[in-house]
Amino acid sequence: EKTTISVIKADIGSLAGHHTVHPDCMAAASRVLAEGKREGVIEDFYVTHVGDDLVLIMTHRKGKDNKDVHTLAWNAFKEATKVSKELGLYAAGQDLLSDAFSGNVRGLGPAAAEMEIVERPSEPIVIFAADKTEPGAFNLPLFRIFADPFNTAGLVIDPRLHIGFTFEVVDVFEDKGVHMNSPEEMYDILALIGTPSRYVIRRVFRKDDGRIAAVVAVERLNLIAGKYVGKDDPVMIVRAQSGFPAVGEILEPFAFPHMVAGWMRGSHFGPLMPVPVRDARPTRFDGPPRVIALGFQVKDAKLIGPSDLFDDPAFDKARQVANEVTDYIRRHGPFMPHRLDPSEMEYTTLPQVLEKLKDRFKPVKDLPEPKIKHSEMLSGTEEAHD
Ligand code: F6R
Ligand code: MG
Ligand code: MG
Repeated sequence: EKTTISVIKADIGSLAGHHTVHPDCMAAASRVLAEGKREGVIEDFYVTHVGDDLVLIMTHRKGKDNKDVHTLAWNAFKEATKVSKELGLYAAGQDLLSDAFSGNVRGLGPAAAEMEIVERPSEPIVIFAADKTEPGAFNLPLFRIFADPFNTAGLVIDPRLHIGFTFEVVDVFEDKGVHMNSPEEMYDILALIGTPSRYVIRRVFRKDDGRIAAVVAVERLNLIAGKYVGKDDPVMIVRAQSGFPAVGEILEPFAFPHMVAGWMRGSHFGPLMPVPVRDARPTRFDGPPRVIALGFQVKDAKLIGPSDLFDDPAFDKARQVANEVTDYIRRHGPFMPHRLDPSEMEYTTLPQVLEKLKDRFKPVKDLPEPKIKHSEMLSGTEEAHD
């Protein structure tokens, strides 16, 4: 019997701007999922949040893209939105882009990462969720986990990892994808995923037996809605141990708080700070971007745990570096490369500002000399006063 892990998240409104999910919203979502568990739609669930994103972690027997499971998640978001509206929370229902729900959350705003597996006798998994960034934020860590022997000792030492992994890379603008093998095509993989706004790692498979190792929610909200509606704060599921990377190898890349797009107004680069859930409340300049990691054991489709994996002083240094980088890059204010480049700014409200300047542009040769308002007498007069 197979087990499916479905992690579905949405921003349904938050407390004091875009910074944290209200506990009553989490409780409302939990009530809906508890009912779904009683009715047998799902086997188990865990509700958490990262920043302003409500995250539903569910296990069940129904496979990916299952109508009942997606409907349950949608209803949980709807109920949580109701609470958001009652409490007047900010941007209530932000990510629920459509009322025309027809059994699958994909394309409607929420982001979903789902994995159907045959459980191993012991099945450790790590669930990641990030706020104030985009799905491509996981490109760098995923490459390091599954392709970099300086990160993952198992790639060198363990025969089941040694033959490498297959990366599924999606072009989110063209809605096309490609499967590429590591280590053989490592440089080609990097040629793509070094552009994380466009080429996003969606899944990783073990070459040994084709088993799924990792899955990321790659929805890009702005490509769905056609405009900026909050970044597409991603979630990810990674399997660990016994022929997959160890939990420590999966977490190791996050000891380097790499630069990701998102942060304030989804328009700035900043360091991705690994934090325990209690610190997943981005406030400085609405950030810097945060990532949480929860470790579970999956047993007979039940979720055992979680353990809050970044709640470890060993990640203090990463947080400190992230704070230093924050100070440094913030001083660029509205300048690139702190602010995103124009192609990415297309999805923000900046084009509206630029639009009204358009008519004022003339050929450079036609630009007038500025009119001098005060006569040269002025400086003469001043001199006279000296
Ligand atoms: C970024 C984010 C926030 C908002 C910012 C402005 O993902 O959620 O940085 O973009 O607080 O929000 P509005 O336009 O709603 O006032
Ligand atoms: Mg929000
Ligand atoms: Mg968010």
